Amino acid sequence: MKRFIAIVLTMLMVISMVGCGATEKSNDSDSVIVGVSMPTKSLQRWNQDGENMKKILEEKGYQVELEFAENKTESQISQIENMITKGAKVIVVAAIDGSALTNVLDSAKEDGIDIIAYDRLIMNTDAVSYYATFDNYNVGTIQGKYIEDKLGLSEGKGPFNLEIATGPLDDNNVVFFYGGAMDVLQKYIDNGQLVVKSSQTTREQAATPNWDEQEAQARMDNIITTHYTDEKIDAVLCSNDSVSLGVQSALKSAGYGTSEKPMPILTGQDANISNVKAIIAGDQSMSVFKDTRALADKVAEMVDSIVSGKEAEVNDTETYDNGVKVVPSYLLEPKFVDESNYKELLIDSGYYTEDQLQ
Ligand code: GAL
Repeated sequence: MKRFIAIVLTMLMVISMVGCGATEKSNDSDSVIVGVSMPTKSLQRWNQDGENMKKILEEKGYQVELEFAENKTESQISQIENMITKGAKVIVVAAIDGSALTNVLDSAKEDGIDIIAYDRLIMNTDAVSYYATFDNYNVGTIQGKYIEDKLGLSEGKGPFNLEIATGPLDDNNVVFFYGGAMDVLQKYIDNGQLVVKSSQTTREQAATPNWDEQEAQARMDNIITTHYTDEKIDAVLCSNDSVSLGVQSALKSAGYGTSEKPMPILTGQDANISNVKAIIAGDQSMSVFKDTRALADKVAEMVDSIVSGKEAEVNDTETYDNGVKVVPSYLLEPKFVDESNYKELLIDSGYYTEDQLQ
């Protein structure tokens, strides 16, 4: 009898341990914390990116710590430190300054936390496991080709006046945006079909700190008053939409946007609502649409792979060298958008409603 009781007790213990294990496991997967560190709320896209990530990750059962750093690197560092303290398993980071996170990410790595670089590459660290982004070089190529096509440069037309307004020096994407566009346009600058009257052609000279609209406007105001009192600008290569808006304001206050003095060809990137409205109004020529829903999906898949101990799917293992390692990357395709296709790309796909663009 004693033996029987002992066997029953042992069985009960085993059952209860297995039971505990099972509960613990489901608690575990429920409570996996994922940090999402976004650069700023001041641009529409990052708000969308952050909210998309949060929604998708929560639907998958993760606990999400979402923070925006108002373009201040110190805030981003302390927000990431907090995520580490809270026990995040994976942290997704869209860096403000891609080279300023080495120390904080080293401590994340020591704690066994995986880092996914979101949209912008994180430099000088081996603590970053994956990078998910759009094909940034192609973004630049799309913008450069647009200017080439619209001005008829490949047919030998010109000379035309071009100015260049790109992004901040601390965003590694700019190397690709600027590089992709200049690989199309440089030959026309060299042969005189394009003239940059300000002579500000390098990435440094054409930079816009923090992608700030006002900075872009002030720089373009200056260029216009110094170099375009007698002549007009035919095209401005703007690397993204906030820069494009700043340039548009400068041009408008210099009298552009009328039938005698039409707006130059202006590029952009992100298909932000204000810029799609500007495209509809004829103030901006085009933008590059990066479907942030697809990027968020991809990153959420990467998180799943990491959490389940598998390798994440990548499609580029060559391009993104961060100075310490080539970061395995997944590149999505950016799409050209202008007046002719915005309805199909942005409204029919459910990215925006028609009302948002009124
Ligand atoms: C870039 C990003 C662009 C644009 C810009 C401004 O890094 O790839 O899509 O949003 O930052 O924040």
